[in-house]
Amino acid sequence: VEAAHRPIGVFDSGIGGLTVLSALRDELPHEQFIYLGDTARLPYGTKSAATIERYALQVADLLVTRGVKALIVACNTASATALPAIRQRYAQLPVIGVVEPGAAAAIVVSRNHRIAVIGTEATVRGGAYQRAIAQLAPAVTVSAVACQLLVALAEEGWTDGVVARATTAQYLTPPFSGQRSSRPDTLVLGCTHFPMLRTVIGETVGSEVEIVDSAVTTARATRELLQRKGLLRTLVDGPAVASPVLLATDGAQRFATVGSRFLGRAIAPADVELVDIS
Ligand code: DGL
Repeated sequence: VEAAHRPIGVFDSGIGGLTVLSALRDELPHEQFIYLGDTARLPYGTKSAATIERYALQVADLLVTRGVKALIVACNTASATALPAIRQRYAQLPVIGVVEPGAAAAIVVSRNHRIAVIGTEATVRGGAYQRAIAQLAPAVTVSAVACQLLVALAEEGWTDGVVARATTAQYLTPPFSGQRSSRPDTLVLGCTHFPMLRTVIGETVGSEVEIVDSAVTTARATRELLQRKGLLRTLVDGPAVASPVLLATDGAQRFATVGSRFLGRAIAPADVELVDIS
């Protein structure tokens, strides 16, 4: 098969990366996608760096055996922790994570050089967003907050109402309190689940704070990289392939129910193929 015709591999610890897949499909309607959610071992966000790296490499290995032309690490925790290891193992393959595009977008948006980042424990602890922002714009002050409970709320579908509001306020009031001039003017949603809570998060931090969703910026970065490498599938390559291939390591039923909300379109349990990677 000609290189451009091969599918794009997308992976996440579970269903969260479907928010990234959704943005990728909007940006690249002619591409075929294979998505793998490591639902048997989720969450990654509370695990050690060594374990996250081992899991992410196993998931990447499986997608590579399926003949993908690029790998999208659609998980902030895996991007923040395992991207160097994946790039090293698959040096010939374009590998794109969500951290660098999110950091770059935040720098463009921020006017007062104060950026807040929210993510899982592992993402915040590993410091990848802090480093990515510092590398591009050393003068920017970054406050990073781990918001682990928001992951569970998003999966439960509790994306508005009193619990979502109180939990979001508990996490986000400290970094956004203080004098207006010292408050961040930009907030990066550094976790696949947080776009589901975007409305409540926006209400909590106030409308003057710009929210950066790394799903959309990652999709744009993917298009640019594929174009540069001559790997973009265009209309002349044939009609757009209908549905992405969906793989999971456990629980087709739950993947379908929760995943439908994250993808923004219905997934049937029969559409989910279970794979064993451990
Ligand atoms: N996908 C993860 C992320 O974006 C959130 C879920 C998890 O912790 O596995 O960080």
